[in-house]
Amino acid sequence: MVADDRLLLVGFMGAGKTSVGRRVAQETGWDFYDLDAEIERRTRQTIREIFEADGEKAFREVEKNVARELLARPRVVIASGGGWAGRAGWRNDVPAHTFSVWLDVGVEEAVRRATAESDVRPLMDQGSDHQRVSELHKVRAPYYALADERVDTEGSTVEDVTARVLESLVRRTDRTRTE
Ligand code: S3P
Repeated sequence: MVADDRLLLVGFMGAGKTSVGRRVAQETGWDFYDLDAEIERRTRQTIREIFEADGEKAFREVEKNVARELLARPRVVIASGGGWAGRAGWRNDVPAHTFSVWLDVGVEEAVRRATAESDVRPLMDQGSDHQRVSELHKVRAPYYALADERVDTEGSTVEDVTARVLESLVRRTDRTRTE
């Protein structure tokens, strides 16, 4: 069997997908893509501007198309946006030889970490609307759980999580080699 040559990070806002993804890419020598940043680069709008001008539905359409394009590339680490894998059927958009990892984070810590970058996260605005964010977190978890592996990031540093993701990638590669 051919080993995976793509790593896809999924999980809620504030899970650390971008920070961890960038470091994993440095270690593997693969190219790093942050889905939100790619969307902003291509549309020349911030995520907030897209949400405000065109609505969430339009954003999801752009997100789906850009993700599909990035996922067609070999030797890449992709940090998806929190909503991309928070839906049924995301695995259908994932090509073979892609290792997906769910960076899991509890809602309290997610809110603490995620409210920092407000232009990327219009859905976190309502830091006060805790119930809405909790609901989103709960509804999405079963979909994130469809990833090949789960890494708990609660209370861990970016370095720790990076090391654990790299270990799983190596284990996965070893397993495929012996199959
Ligand atoms: C979203 C998460 C954001 C961004 C957009 C919508 C979501 O990405 O794509 O604000 O629906 O959870 P991060 O998970 O990188 O914050």
